[in-house]
Amino acid sequence: MSGRKALDYSLEAPAKINLHLEILDRRADGYHELRSLFLMVGLCDRLQVSIGGDTDRLTVSGTGEVDPADNTVIRALALFRRETGFDRPVSVTLEKRIPTGSGLGGGSSDAAALLRLLNRNAPRTLLPRELHELGAEIGSDVPFFLGAPCAVVEGRGEIIHSCPGPSRGVTILLAVPDWSVSTAAAYRWLDEQPAAPDPRGPSAASLARAVNQLSPRQWNFFNSFLEVVAARHPRYRQLIDHMDGGGALWHGLSGSGSAYFGVFEKVDAAVKCLHTLRGNFRFQGIVSPLETVPAVG
Ligand code: C5P
Repeated sequence: MSGRKALDYSLEAPAKINLHLEILDRRADGYHELRSLFLMVGLCDRLQVSIGGDTDRLTVSGTGEVDPADNTVIRALALFRRETGFDRPVSVTLEKRIPTGSGLGGGSSDAAALLRLLNRNAPRTLLPRELHELGAEIGSDVPFFLGAPCAVVEGRGEIIHSCPGPSRGVTILLAVPDWSVSTAAAYRWLDEQPAAPDPRGPSAASLARAVNQLSPRQWNFFNSFLEVVAARHPRYRQLIDHMDGGGALWHGLSGSGSAYFGVFEKVDAAVKCLHTLRGNFRFQGIVSPLETVPAVG
């Protein structure tokens, strides 16, 4: 039993969508180079964290399948301990609201939120660069969740250029179908395709400019996974037609799916499109882009 009183915190770990996701070359280590535009949105997992209680504990509730013995929160704690020698017991109650296996980054975001909190409470604090390196060991999307709500992401996911998000108010209709897509499998499906022709998609600078300055109608974004994922899940055709018919200014797949989203300038149009959506979804709703990252502690 620790002599000090336990400290209790409530954290929100937001989802992300990929407004653009171009998969570039396969690297010698099996990972792929990418160039992507990430945006955090207001659909959040919740973590109740108690530092300094009796013992380490993880309790999971809510949507999806999370193995309490093997998940990103446990890995974040173990790696943080390894790097810093932090030894106080940590108990986490994780309320999952972000569907798992949906390309919305929930597991990565949970890990990043816990890392940020632990780093504020540790006797030996990690530098931002060290925290990023630790995050990258947990998963490719974790470094993004340690930073700003909108960013161009490159490399394997560890090169982050934060940028201002959409400047005109945009509303996002988010629909997560009742199937999951394995990210590792989606990369394999891409590897089996003939190589993408040059010239390639928009540069990092042009992505950052477009998201902030252009109407979504003018975005030239795309997602390299869409074709291979939609070929295995033909019901995407209905979602795509529905977003087109419902007046989405832009729509696309997040990550390797299964989440699909539409971007609207008018809330009414997004709500109407939501209400006429047919099918089985693990989540369907209206979310807003985040302008600031939820505070920890
Ligand atoms: O890093 P993370 O655990 O999110 O990646 C899951 C899988 O996706 C990896 O095992 C790898 O097969 C693939 N991946 C990749 N290139 C990336 C990110 C992920 O090939 N940049």
